[in-house]
Amino acid sequence: MELGDTYRGKTVLITGDTGFKGSWLAIWLTELGAKVIGFALPPAGPRDNFVICEVARSITHVDGDVRDYDALTTVLGEHQPDIVFHLAAQALVLDSYKDPRGTFATNVMGVVNLLEAVRYARSVRAVVVVTSDKCYENQGLDRGYRESDPLGGRDPYSASKGAAEIAASSMRRSFFTEPGDAAIATARAGNVIGGGDWAANRIVPDCIRALASLEPIVVRNPSAIRPWQHVMDALNGYLVLGTKLLADGHRYAEAWNFGPAPGEVVPVSGLVEQMIAAWGSGTYRVEADAGAPAEARILHLDIAKAREQLAWSPKLSLAQAIAATVQGYRAERDDAAAIYAHRAMQISAFRELP
Ligand SMILES: NC(=O)c1ccc[n+]([C@@H]2O[C@H](COP(=O)([O-])OP(=O)(O)OC[C@H]3O[C@@H](n4cnc5c(N)ncnc54)[C@H](O)[C@@H]3O)[C@@H](O)[C@H]2O)c1
Repeated sequence: MELGDTYRGKTVLITGDTGFKGSWLAIWLTELGAKVIGFALPPAGPRDNFVICEVARSITHVDGDVRDYDALTTVLGEHQPDIVFHLAAQALVLDSYKDPRGTFATNVMGVVNLLEAVRYARSVRAVVVVTSDKCYENQGLDRGYRESDPLGGRDPYSASKGAAEIAASSMRRSFFTEPGDAAIATARAGNVIGGGDWAANRIVPDCIRALASLEPIVVRNPSAIRPWQHVMDALNGYLVLGTKLLADGHRYAEAWNFGPAPGEVVPVSGLVEQMIAAWGSGTYRVEADAGAPAEARILHLDIAKAREQLAWSPKLSLAQAIAATVQGYRAERDDAAAIYAHRAMQISAFRELP
């Protein structure tokens, strides 16, 4: 089914709309004809996708904190959304070492607060809780992690996402069991890339910052393997899942992995080399950081379940994802209307792909 058939005319609440993924999702849903409500902290900086695309002009954005249960209750009551995409989170591993309490408070209690508020918001039929590929206990497996693998997490960010999964599962099994109750699913996606991400210490924004200023890219973990995919592929997974939840509720109210195809998983060095090739020039150098917190060597996702049961699969190869990413950043030289139009054009072209 076409996504527009589900979302046109629906009221959709996105928590974390001022973030990278949330702002792309807001554009996508607006283009599908949904009425989008956003709830998040203000944008982190002036270059954020939410700001440069002036997303606030086409949606209703509410400044708020997911640690504030009353604020969530108010936004749900005032706007009566049909479906919620919960993306608000402290999303950076390094920041989680600096602020573990804030990370757990936002990433775990944010989920509990939202789902508790949804219990009493009778308009909501479905919730997609976005966690992470890092929610799994990383056992150094060479195979992709499956939804049934143990949850865990060594650093506070990963652990908070594992805990968010457990919290969502508990809330679902305790309070969302009747046929009329909202259907609650969780989505575990890999490392997403795309224009408009300016987060600190993420490899693709680091590449663009270096390439644009003619500096060598500094790479700290060249052999770490991660499931990179374009933000549109991950969001397409969330949107397809939302469609299923709205149509057939509880059958799909569980955990889902969304990641790249198995052959498209590369080490950081491979990603950086492809970024340089797509940019057209540039160099990188490896600089080991002895004091850096430990990071898992390999992490990727088994996406068989979403492929088989949701009929979702990634559309872009890594090379296509990188090309779209570089084009997305290059488009940022234009004014807000043109950047927004470029994002919408990329989404439209993506939707045309088989
Ligand atoms: N970007 C990735 O590669 C990636 C990978 C896996 C999972 N995720 C998850 O996807 C989601 C979105 O990630 P992103 O890359 O867009 O992150 P981001 O940092 O760009 O955006 C985070 C959003 O959450 C909001 N937020 C943070 N703390 C909040 C709070 N206390 N109350 C209300 N809003 C708050 C921010 O304002 C922002 O809108 C997060 O849950 C993240 O953990 C991201």
